Amino acid sequence: MKGKHLILVLAIAALAMLFFGASINAEETATSDVIKMENTKAFATHKQGIVMFDHKKHFAAKPDGHGLACGDCHHDKDNKPLALKEGDKVQGCLECHTKTEKPKKPQGMSKPDWDKMQLEYYYGAIHENCVGCHKKGNAGPVKCAECHPKPEK
Ligand code: HEC
Ligand code: HEC
Ligand code: HEC
Ligand code: HEC
Repeated sequence: MKGKHLILVLAIAALAMLFFGASINAEETATSDVIKMENTKAFATHKQGIVMFDHKKHFAAKPDGHGLACGDCHHDKDNKPLALKEGDKVQGCLECHTKTEKPKKPQGMSKPDWDKMQLEYYYGAIHENCVGCHKKGNAGPVKCAECHPKPEK
């Protein structure tokens, strides 16, 4: 009897590991705690240190988290904030901010046109989102190395 129980327990444990192991990779159904920001579609190579974005800390309630709403960062095709809950699917930023690599300012372009152009790029959208909010809220890092760790060499 004891032996049978042990086998049952082991079988359940193995199944549970399979289940949880699989769910870690299922981006569509989970809301990641920490996101490794290494978008290889947007950048052929990463010249800066890879940003480990503490997603959960940003939307977790204060005082442990920063108390942001999902819609502070995730919006629809008209830039309207999305009402989401944990577990909902979202589109990647690159799906709408479709241009890849770092934008280069064309000579003589006005500031408003340049701001608009940068938003067409994943690079511009992500920095405007992260750094823009940190600047506005007078909170959060704005220096390169505070987000991009110095590469180990
Ligand atoms: C608040 C955090 C934050 C700050 C501050 C920040 N970045 Fe970034 N940066 C990011 C994120 C997030 C990405 C997107 C990386 C990805 O998804 O692949 C990124 C991407 C990049 C990339 C493209 C990928 C690469 O590694 O080549 C470059 C270049 C870059 N940043 C340079 C800078 C520079 C220069 C500064 C300072 C002027 C800076 N960043 C400040 C968060 C930040
Ligand atoms: C401070 C900004 C911010 C907040 C707040 C935020 N997210 Fe995100 N989220 C991001 C960024 C940036 C990504 C990466 C997008 C990309 O790679 O294109 C992301 C990715 C995701 C993804 C897909 C990738 C993954 O691994 O999870 C889901 C799902 C998601 N967020 C859901 C949510 C939900 C639900 C909330 C609210 C409970 C939320 N997010 C709050 C910025 C945020
Ligand atoms: C479904 C399409 C879509 C997705 C997905 C999307 N955006 Fe946008 N975003 C837009 C549109 C449209 C605008 C308005 C563009 C304009 O005014 O030129 C916008 C504007 C912005 C702005 C400027 C905000 C403002 O109000 O001035 C930032 C920053 C931004 N997006 C960042 C992001 C980030 C970061 C992600 C991923 C977490 C993301 N976007 C995902 C469509 C999208
Ligand atoms: C809508 C506002 C907002 C957006 C968007 C945002 N942050 Fe933050 N972030 C904050 C606040 C608020 C803090 C807390 C600052 C403090 O407590 O001093 C913070 C803190 C941080 C910190 C310091 C460590 C921590 O978690 O407390 C890092 C690193 C960081 N953010 C990275 C990012 C990156 C990368 C992005 C974009 C992918 C991003 N943030 C987008 C508001 C924002």
